Amino acid sequence: MTDTLPPEAVFSERDEAAKAILIANDRGGYTVPTAGLYPYQWNWDSAFAALGFARFDLNRAWQEIETLFTGQWESGMVPHILFHKPDPGYFPGPDVWGCNGPIASSGITQPPVALSFAPRLLRQDPDFGAERFRALYPKMRAWADWFLRWRRDEKGAIFVIHPWESGRDNAVDWDNAMEGVDPQGVGYYERRDTQHVDASMRPTKYDYDRYIWLVQRGKRLGWDDAAMAEGNPFRVADPTMHFILLRGLRELLVAGDHLGLDTEGLEAQIAGLEEGAKALWNTGMGFFDSYNCNNGIWANALTNASFLCWFGGVSAPEMDRHLQRVLDAAPYGVPSLAPFDPRFDAKRYWRGPTWAMMNMMIGEGAAEAGIALGEEVRKRTQEVIANYGFVEYFDPMTGEAAGGKAFTWTAAVWLAWAGKEG
Ligand code: GLC
Repeated sequence: MTDTLPPEAVFSERDEAAKAILIANDRGGYTVPTAGLYPYQWNWDSAFAALGFARFDLNRAWQEIETLFTGQWESGMVPHILFHKPDPGYFPGPDVWGCNGPIASSGITQPPVALSFAPRLLRQDPDFGAERFRALYPKMRAWADWFLRWRRDEKGAIFVIHPWESGRDNAVDWDNAMEGVDPQGVGYYERRDTQHVDASMRPTKYDYDRYIWLVQRGKRLGWDDAAMAEGNPFRVADPTMHFILLRGLRELLVAGDHLGLDTEGLEAQIAGLEEGAKALWNTGMGFFDSYNCNNGIWANALTNASFLCWFGGVSAPEMDRHLQRVLDAAPYGVPSLAPFDPRFDAKRYWRGPTWAMMNMMIGEGAAEAGIALGEEVRKRTQEVIANYGFVEYFDPMTGEAAGGKAFTWTAAVWLAWAGKEG
């Protein structure tokens, strides 16, 4: 796996602008994804932030991940949001979740990108990072073990128990399972997201009722993993989680061996997830896909998560061709859903738009697998950010900026990958 983080001394004007966003979104030891819309620490956003910081402040980069792990639960789970300081502008806040981890938090997790990015920080400066990595290592292993214990289905694929867990909130992947959630009794609640950005770009009320109902179920069960596993109405096997966890395990093995840490069990875990990846292969469609674990129904959706296979070190020649088709159809990066899918919606969040951080994992993974299109993905991501700004996401057909502004992970992806000279 290549290290893409040479600390370059020369900063372009755009690099400086990206750096300024990270600094402005820094709340002291952690960054918020963007002021207003997302005022807390989000799990996978922070992992990207760390890579951005690593271009100009390696100490701060480590700190971002260390702060994330201060929220780790006894079970090993690392929450998807840490509510470090109260902010009334966000819903659902700590009281709705009702969790009692070491820091007020949500009760679900997010893709464990940090497992892959901590080893990168280590590679950038092994002397500087060795002690910090050593301290994080058992925590990272515990998180991975938790995934394998509580989020692996009968076929060996990693699943999510809430759409927010995957980080792809309203993707078509969840539609079938969402139909099986009856949000009766969800009660009155007031959304805050639509006060910050246009409602036409956000998930619908139909989705939101179910998101909140699932949160209420977890709270009622005290967020106890065993209790929640029983009769769980929402379990969807997810390529995002699966491939990101698989890569994380591979990176932990290399870094752990390098530092002489105890890596027992990792090889078997990797082999297990390599085998489990086969369960995500939708034979009818010929691509990696998600399925509802409760009834086996496929999403039949070619998404940006399908293309994370290479990031996970898994190749399939069909996927190269699919990537070409998608890039032919959408000029501005890999869209979150193939434009030729009738469910495609160019501006609605995870049902069409291009996300820079997904493009980074896709582009890097493809390049590592020797696929020339990986570099093409990088160039297109560079172009769309350069022309339309460091926004949350982009319309993949027109490049138009959408969602929140001055976004941490878009700025970080620029610094770590997209903005580098080709
Ligand atoms: C949205 C995204 C999620 C992200 C969060 C903060 O919920 O779907 O992936 O982590 O915002 O940026």
